[in-house]
Amino acid sequence: MSTPRPPVQADIDAEIARLQGSRPGASHPARDYAPYRSSVLRHPTQPLVTVKDPDAVELSGPVFGVTDVTALDHDLTRQHPGEPLGERITVTGRVLDADGRPVAGQLVEIWQANASGRYAHQRDDHPAPLDPNFTGAGRCLTDADGRYAFTTIKPGPYPWRNHTNAWRPAHIHFSLFGQAFTQRLVTQMYFPGDPLFPYDPILQAVTEQPARDRLVATYDHDLSVPEWSLGYRWDIVLDGPAATWMEEGR
Ligand SMILES: [Fe+2]
Repeated sequence: MSTPRPPVQADIDAEIARLQGSRPGASHPARDYAPYRSSVLRHPTQPLVTVKDPDAVELSGPVFGVTDVTALDHDLTRQHPGEPLGERITVTGRVLDADGRPVAGQLVEIWQANASGRYAHQRDDHPAPLDPNFTGAGRCLTDADGRYAFTTIKPGPYPWRNHTNAWRPAHIHFSLFGQAFTQRLVTQMYFPGDPLFPYDPILQAVTEQPARDRLVATYDHDLSVPEWSLGYRWDIVLDGPAATWMEEGR
């Protein structure tokens, strides 16, 4: 049995064209998306199970409150004795439901690579330097207006082994618990104008441009702090037709 050949850019372009042609207008990524090799392993293969008592599921699920999050958890630049290297940024926005109402008191967690594109993780062996002053994980609770805010370092792009010369655009991973099981969201936020967008099978798995655009933050000069940091705004919609798209894997 021969080893499957990893996809190259032509395969990615062909698969994107096939998906867009066969599912016009669809923004839901295919579960098996060939250009993103590990997507095949990262979704259910069994029929969905109907939950007979949804309320019981909600009651037994995890909940988080103010006592679980410390005042410094939202600032990824202050978790070590020294300051991390890189471009200091603020990322803020509102978490909204399908009707545009703020979702207050919700746990928002993020994780990301450092400025060199390296994760502080034992399985990341990308030959870029670790930063002893940057772990790359943070969390906060949304306020009464549904607003979250993080201070961090702009992550660098990094290579991965999906196909030849594969690089991920700079991104921050987000996890939100929402107010119900159906609002659970794990996704990625991207930075505007990244030249790697067309080459990224994960972003391109979302075949509709407006849905892809909802994953990209906006640079907001009013959020930039003089002599200190640059500001990005990114709102997150947990459900409904304008929902922020959920990732299928990494
Ligand atoms: Fe990542």
